[in-house]
Amino acid sequence: MPFPVERLSRLRAHPVLRAMVRETRVTGDDLIYPLFAVPGSGVRREIGSMPGQYNLSLDHLAQEARRAADAGVRAVIVFGVPERKDGAASGAFDARGIVQQAIGVIKRAAPELAVFADTCLCEYTDHGHCLVFGKDNRYDPAATLETLARTAVSQAAAGADVVAPSGMVDGMVAAIRAGLDAAGFSHVPIMSYAVKYASGFYGPFRDAVGSAPAFGDRAGHQMDPPNAREALREAQLDAAEGADILMVKPGLPYLDILARLRERFSHPLAAYQVSGEYAMIKAAARHGWIDEDRVVLETLTALKRAGADLILTYFALDLLERKRIAA
Ligand code: PBG
Ligand code: ZN
Repeated sequence: MPFPVERLSRLRAHPVLRAMVRETRVTGDDLIYPLFAVPGSGVRREIGSMPGQYNLSLDHLAQEARRAADAGVRAVIVFGVPERKDGAASGAFDARGIVQQAIGVIKRAAPELAVFADTCLCEYTDHGHCLVFGKDNRYDPAATLETLARTAVSQAAAGADVVAPSGMVDGMVAAIRAGLDAAGFSHVPIMSYAVKYASGFYGPFRDAVGSAPAFGDRAGHQMDPPNAREALREAQLDAAEGADILMVKPGLPYLDILARLRERFSHPLAAYQVSGEYAMIKAAARHGWIDEDRVVLETLTALKRAGADLILTYFALDLLERKRIAA
C-alpha cells in the first residue's frame, strides 16, 4: 500500500518545521500574575493549599513586584486581606486600604508593570459574601453597586491601570463605568469577570484571603456550571454595559465556554486559571505523577487555543523566571 498523499506527520519530525507551523504560543505578554497583600511587615507566609504562593506584607510585596518585573512579568492583579472586616465592606474603598496601599507600593517598586485591581467585596465583608446586605439581612442591590463603584474609584485613584469586578453582581459594570467616569477616570478600562461559575475550584483562594462565606454559598449569583447559553447572555450584558475585557473563570473546565465566547465577541478575552487548578497541578507534580512544566504549558496553551488573549495564572512568575516561556 502506498502512503496517503496527505501525511500530516511530515511537518512534525523536524523541530524547526514543527515550530514554524505552530498555531498558538504563550508568552509573557499574555500573562497576569496574582498577588495577595496582607497587613503588617515582614510577612511572607506561604498559602498552605497553594505551594509557591504567598501572603505578602507591603515590604515583601515591593520586592516581589520588582522580582516579577525583572523576570519579564508584564501585569499583576492585586487581592487584599484587610485588617478588619465589617458589614459595609469599608476596607474595600478605604483610600488607605490594603489594596490601595499595595497598588502604590507596586507602582513605586516596578512602574513598568500594568496593575489590575480585583474589585469585589467578599474579602472585606464580615460575612464573606460579595454583596452588601440591608437592615433586614436581605441583599441590598443599590448599596452593593454604590460600594463597588466607590471601590473601583478608590483603586483607580491609587493608581490601578485596570479594575476587575469579580462578584458577578448584576449591573456592576455599568455602575463602575459610571462611577469611574464621574470621578475623572474615564480612561481606566474594566476587565469584567463576566462569566464566573459557582465553582469548587476556588477553595484554595478562599483559604488565601479568608473569604469563604460565613453562611450560604455563592450559587445565587455566580453561574450554574451546567449552563453554556446563559454564559453568552452574561457576556452580552457586560459588553453592553461597557466592559473592555471579558473573562471566563475557571479556565480548563470551561474551555468550551471560552471557545463559544471567542466566536461571538471581538472583545479581548481573559481566562482565569484559578487556585484549585493550580493546586491540582502542584499536588500531582509533587507526587511525581505528572511533569509540572509540561502540564502547565499544555494547560496555558489550551486556554489560548480556545480563545483567551490574556491568562491569569499563579504560574506566571515561575515560568518566566525559569525561562520556560519567552518574555
Ligand atoms: C472574589 C474572587 C474569587 C476569586 C477571584 N476573585 C473567589 C470567589 O469568587 O470565591 C477566585 C480566584 C481563584 O480561585 O484563584 N470574588
Ligand atoms: Zn467576591
